[in-house]
Amino acid sequence: MEPRTFAREAIASIKETVGDGTAISALSGGVDSAVVTVLGHKALGKRLKVIFIDDGLMREGEPQEVKDAFAKLGIKVKVVNVKKRFFEALAGNTDPEDKRKAFRHTFYQVLGEAVKASGATFLLQGTIAADVIETKKGVKTQHNVLEQIGIDSESGYGFQALEPIKTLFKPDVRRVGRTVGLPKAFSERIPFPGPGLATRCLGEVTPKRVAIVRKACKIVEEETAKAKPFQAFAVLLEDRATGLKKNGRRAFGHIVVVRSVQSEDAMTADATKLTWPVLERIRDRILEACPTVTKVLYDLTGKPPSTIEYI
Ligand code: XMP
Repeated sequence: MEPRTFAREAIASIKETVGDGTAISALSGGVDSAVVTVLGHKALGKRLKVIFIDDGLMREGEPQEVKDAFAKLGIKVKVVNVKKRFFEALAGNTDPEDKRKAFRHTFYQVLGEAVKASGATFLLQGTIAADVIETKKGVKTQHNVLEQIGIDSESGYGFQALEPIKTLFKPDVRRVGRTVGLPKAFSERIPFPGPGLATRCLGEVTPKRVAIVRKACKIVEEETAKAKPFQAFAVLLEDRATGLKKNGRRAFGHIVVVRSVQSEDAMTADATKLTWPVLERIRDRILEACPTVTKVLYDLTGKPPSTIEYI
């Protein structure tokens, strides 16, 4: 794949399909939706509306960072605050696939409403090849693959979905991103799943539990940055374990798993060989920042047999 040619053809194809209509793109801050948004903006200019659905499941500071970075590219991003709706949809849900389904349904409902309000008839989506393959294989329900799982977005949610990068794997997505002028902070960013921190919170997804995993994820991202992992994050387990508080009392606290993997395209992965001092720093910082946590573990499993995320 030659990224410049790919970008040129994708832009021409978006222009042709949308005609003189309008489209909407939902930025998540991840590489895929960022690349698709820039392609869409190049094809349609102001006729592409860009929204950021603030579902309450994003990384720390994400909505504002995304807004600022895209403003520098001349792309206006509207932040839609729908945290409450997502937490309500996820409440009481502990089954991994049910959580994904609840997320996906709420996501498309919110998006459908945003599309209606904007008058757009097309939705640009950042689906990539790995999403399609894994959903078809039944490995998991991706939030962004509708057609493959038999959902007609037009009758179900009121828009036609365009997926300009669905033939690409992550390294090529990054190449296209660089070609179209996406800032390095985005094109080289570690992947972040659409359902966000809901995939890193086992058991019920509540604002309190998400707040713990958000803090821990930030620490893991910062401390592993030098090792340049494909992906690094923290996961809050549903289980609990006994530990000792600073006052010497026993506490039945939270367990946080640290996950860091090396991978080319997310289809296979190996645990990063983090150094002991890095692991110790992560442990200390998580215990300090999250007082309800009593155990910090490092996950050594590769993919396969494991997956990268925990749901
Ligand atoms: P797994 O856990 O299946 O993840 O090994 C492979 C890659 O896909 C990302 N991922 C997702 N990305 N929507 C996305 O946009 C999703 O529903 C989703 N689930 C997993 C994951 O972070 C990893 O990079």
